[in-house]
Amino acid sequence: MATSVMAPGPNSTPPAAVWLCENMAKRVAIVGAGVCGLASIKCCLEEGLEPTCFERSDDLGGLWRFTEHVEEGRASLYQSVISNSSKEMSCYSDFPFPEDYPNYVPNSLFLEYLKMYAKQFDLLKCIQFKTKVCSVKKCPDFAISGQWEVVTLHEGKQNSTVFDAVMVCIGFLTNPFLPLDSFPGINTFKGQYFHSRQYKHPDIFKDKTVLVVGMGNSGTDIAIEASHVAKKVFLSTTGGAWVISRVNDSGYPWDMVFTTRFQNMVRNFLPTPIVTWLIARKMNSWFNHTNYGLVPEDKTQLREPVLNSELPGYIITGKVLIKPSIKEVKEKSVIFNNTPKEEPIDIIVFATGYTIAFPFLDESVLKVEDEQASLYKYIFPPHLQKPTLAVIGLVKPLGSMIPTGETQARWVVQVLKGVSMLPPPSVMIKDVNEKKENKHSGFGLCYCNALQTDYIKYIDDLLTSINAKPNLFSMLLMDPRLALTLFFGPCSSYQFRLTGTGKWEGARKAIMMQWDRTLNVTKTRIVQESPSPFENLLKLFSCLALLVAVFLIFL
Ligand SMILES: *[C@@H]1O[C@H](CO)[C@@H](O)[C@H](O)[C@H]1NC(C)=O
Ligand SMILES: *[C@@H]1O[C@H](CO)[C@@H](O)[C@H](O)[C@H]1NC(C)=O
Ligand SMILES: *[C@@H]1O[C@H](CO)[C@@H](O)[C@H](O)[C@H]1NC(C)=O
Ligand SMILES: *[C@@H]1O[C@H](CO)[C@@H](O)[C@H](O)[C@H]1NC(C)=O
Ligand SMILES: *[C@@H]1O[C@H](CO)[C@@H](O)[C@H](O)[C@H]1NC(C)=O
Repeated sequence: MATSVMAPGPNSTPPAAVWLCENMAKRVAIVGAGVCGLASIKCCLEEGLEPTCFERSDDLGGLWRFTEHVEEGRASLYQSVISNSSKEMSCYSDFPFPEDYPNYVPNSLFLEYLKMYAKQFDLLKCIQFKTKVCSVKKCPDFAISGQWEVVTLHEGKQNSTVFDAVMVCIGFLTNPFLPLDSFPGINTFKGQYFHSRQYKHPDIFKDKTVLVVGMGNSGTDIAIEASHVAKKVFLSTTGGAWVISRVNDSGYPWDMVFTTRFQNMVRNFLPTPIVTWLIARKMNSWFNHTNYGLVPEDKTQLREPVLNSELPGYIITGKVLIKPSIKEVKEKSVIFNNTPKEEPIDIIVFATGYTIAFPFLDESVLKVEDEQASLYKYIFPPHLQKPTLAVIGLVKPLGSMIPTGETQARWVVQVLKGVSMLPPPSVMIKDVNEKKENKHSGFGLCYCNALQTDYIKYIDDLLTSINAKPNLFSMLLMDPRLALTLFFGPCSSYQFRLTGTGKWEGARKAIMMQWDRTLNVTKTRIVQESPSPFENLLKLFSCLALLVAVFLIFL
């Protein structure tokens, strides 16, 4: 194996004194070319840094690039995956989806969009494909230079390069979590079992009795797909979950209704029990979760909701049967808790989620404990002497991943340039520890899943650091229409590009047209509606009633 140590360019290792006053990072290594990796490359280029992105597979897109075979170290999804936040809410904040895209974008179109983004901003030139990052280590003079030695492997050849900063964009859907010891008897099972990561197409379930364990988004999707061909499908859930439909009240996309600044304010303002009660009421208005065996065990800790428009229809027609957790697995059957009957099972799919891991980083740099990586604002390891390593996209906002990761990258780039300063390590460590302890937010959503965070609040917080948070009060004077749309309307990505660093001129127009773009793709048959005579009559009566009322008052 040839190992060549690239001499860092003449400009990139200035004497310590110059470094301290300029505090300017130049060469940035980006690990992974998924949605966050692409955003990171773009942010670096825009701010005059030199990004090099290492992508292990042979193409960009990460999670969104479906392949027939599972690739090690890369997220793997099934062919039918559809985005779970709508296009206006989940696009890059300065790059709307094409107008004719559906509101919830299937993975193949999503990948096309990412390729358009890469082309538009000329990102491909910075990506080295088929290059695995083996290790990222501090350089000996890290305390002064903040530099990293990045060892990569490309076609069997190792290469070691020094970078001024590293942005880790590997996501959290690559290491399957399969706690087999919590399923007693699984090693005696004679049927087939696998992690949901292995699942690609439903034909393997033909005429089988299938058990899907775990009711997240993928578990639920898989159960429904299986039910089209399988003999019988069980879906086992320990904690239950709220299920919401992509199609919300009056048919609007759920997140355009749910994620507004106004609603967020109300949710944060009201006491948690009231919010819990209100949300439970709203959730049950579609179908009664108790009667469908889905009601979450702990209603005060609203887990990530499951996004599925079809599940109740499949439960009511008996195509999917909800079961509690597994008590015991036998050779050809499964016994569930609190149910006497043994159910024969041919295939078990474990949709039990993922664990976080950073195989190329030493524990002294970033340690994962109890499914949590201690990161300041979910981004920077707080104890490093220099803030030159950042993790992008390791949050689970109840909103869209793309604008979240993108805003993180925008802030990180400002920190790397020394424009935005981090607080001293002691303050950051304290903040991280408080976040870990304070598992409940006023929002009523839990931090039990350590990465979950309040979407709008989190992004606003990052935008404040880079001076790009829209100021609604001053806007109310200058542009009241826009201010009201920002406050009451969906918190779409473009809101994050209205002012300050990284401002996009098209943002205002994109916000004003968001509902047009949303409805244009579904309202594809337009009917001229004539106003009904009854409506006019009603209007006339209300006017008359008002007049009478006014008359009576003055009398
Ligand atoms: C090592 O990587 C650097 C930067 O990525 C590149 O310029 C150089 O050609 C590579 N060396 C070898 C031997 O591949
Ligand atoms: C609509 O969204 C709300 C959250 O804003 C949710 O509680 C409700 O269940 C959704 N309705 C449907 C039909 O999914
Ligand atoms: C749901 O059904 C249960 C009975 O199974 C009932 O007690 C409960 O009040 C119902 N909830 C709502 C919100 O209708
Ligand atoms: C969307 O799906 C991903 C992957 O299953 C999940 O991590 C994320 O929480 C989901 N988002 C929402 C808003 O449901
Ligand atoms: C929506 O469709 C109408 C009619 O087809 C068209 O006039 C309008 O420009 C479209 N709006 C957007 C935002 O595409």
